[in-house]
Amino acid sequence: MFPLGRTRPPSLAPCASLGRPTPHAAAWWHAPGTLVVATPELARRVLAESPQDFCVPEVFSSGTTATVINDPRSVRTERNSAAKNAMSGPWVDQRTPQLVEFIDRYLDEHPIPRRWAVLPTLYDLTSALATFLCLGLACPMWQEIAASLRQATPGAVATDRAGLRQGRRLREFDVQAQRVTDALHQLLQRRRTQPNSTKGSVLDLLAHGGEPDGQPSGWSDEARVETLWFMLYTAQTAPAMATSWLLYLLAHHPEVQQGLRHEAHQPASQTAASHLIRTREAGSESLRLYPPTWLLGRTVRQDTKIDGHLVQPGDQVRVAVQLIQRDERFFPDPHRFHPARWEPGGPAGQAPRGAYLPFGLGTHFCRGTAWVHALTGLTVAALLRRYEFTTPRRPQVRPRLAGHLEPTHLTLLCSRTS
Ligand code: HEM
Repeated sequence: MFPLGRTRPPSLAPCASLGRPTPHAAAWWHAPGTLVVATPELARRVLAESPQDFCVPEVFSSGTTATVINDPRSVRTERNSAAKNAMSGPWVDQRTPQLVEFIDRYLDEHPIPRRWAVLPTLYDLTSALATFLCLGLACPMWQEIAASLRQATPGAVATDRAGLRQGRRLREFDVQAQRVTDALHQLLQRRRTQPNSTKGSVLDLLAHGGEPDGQPSGWSDEARVETLWFMLYTAQTAPAMATSWLLYLLAHHPEVQQGLRHEAHQPASQTAASHLIRTREAGSESLRLYPPTWLLGRTVRQDTKIDGHLVQPGDQVRVAVQLIQRDERFFPDPHRFHPARWEPGGPAGQAPRGAYLPFGLGTHFCRGTAWVHALTGLTVAALLRRYEFTTPRRPQVRPRLAGHLEPTHLTLLCSRTS
């Protein structure tokens, strides 16, 4: 069992902006044409059980800003099947030693300062890791692509209400996205003449059609590039946020932090991602409190009723992930960081399907969970082996409910472990 933390981080009231009319309201209109749902039953219905009534929107807008991912539906099916192959547990497990080496080298070359602005470093690290996994370390263009991705990301994720600023940032994002797309086309071409240049990467898999046995799939290069782009983009945004939130919670809970540090120091053979059991439980709890994808969106396809509200084609339904995950009916003492609830047989296992949704549900369930657990777990373990984290006297983190739930201004105090 984990000891419970003595200090508690500020609860950072979840999703007040969604305007829930009563504490347990199941569904309500947030704006004309936008219905919010906040129970596991309704989440199941919207995300998993009624594909005839709801579909994924082309561009997802959280209401304050738009997250633009170049994601035409035509490539989604192919992309997801390739993603399933590339991101399976065994594929990731095979790469664990390389990932550990990569993260260790990165941290040796980029020592963490005493006052550490967490998110920019983690964006930097995850974009390098994403490029490594997707394109292979030997890829000659990987540094350039990682830099483009880093520049593009704040444009997409950290936009805010200020219309002018948003417009400029989204234009920046478009420019960087085009650079990445061009570079990926070139890489694909190069891969055909130099098959070893990206060996073992997702690019390598896609060059074979996305199937491990290399069956030709009839994919266009556009579809391959879209797939790579999606994975590169996704793998370097949400995992950086998830890792930042976990570090934030660990800084507030020194006992839990110490427990994970002990686990991180276990002999190398024991520290493969799948063996970082406590770290994974803490990660699950962190994703419960601060899910980077705090809202999921669907577009209504045909007239239907949700909890008595008539929704019509074109209306939007938002599943309030963070609200559901902080409902005391499913997670007692819901605002408390309590990783032990995820132990085998623990109370989190009793929650109904649809009460825990950091990776969605149903057809569009996240294909990257093996990557996320590996990237988050191995990064946190490497950091804890080197550093101790505490919070400054006046913690300044602000959850920004943009496209993702982003811990802006998160600063931690770091000291070297002895
Ligand atoms: C902490 C990190 C991550 C979180 C919180 C997350 C969350 C999600 C969620 C909530 C969905 C469902 C979207 C919906 O139903 O509309 C999703 C789908 C997906 N994710 Fe992730 N994800 C993460 C990382 C990744 C990574 C690293 C990859 C791959 C590199 C990835 C690949 C995918 C794919 C392929 C889908 C399916 C999309 C679709 O069907 O349209 N995810 N993810």
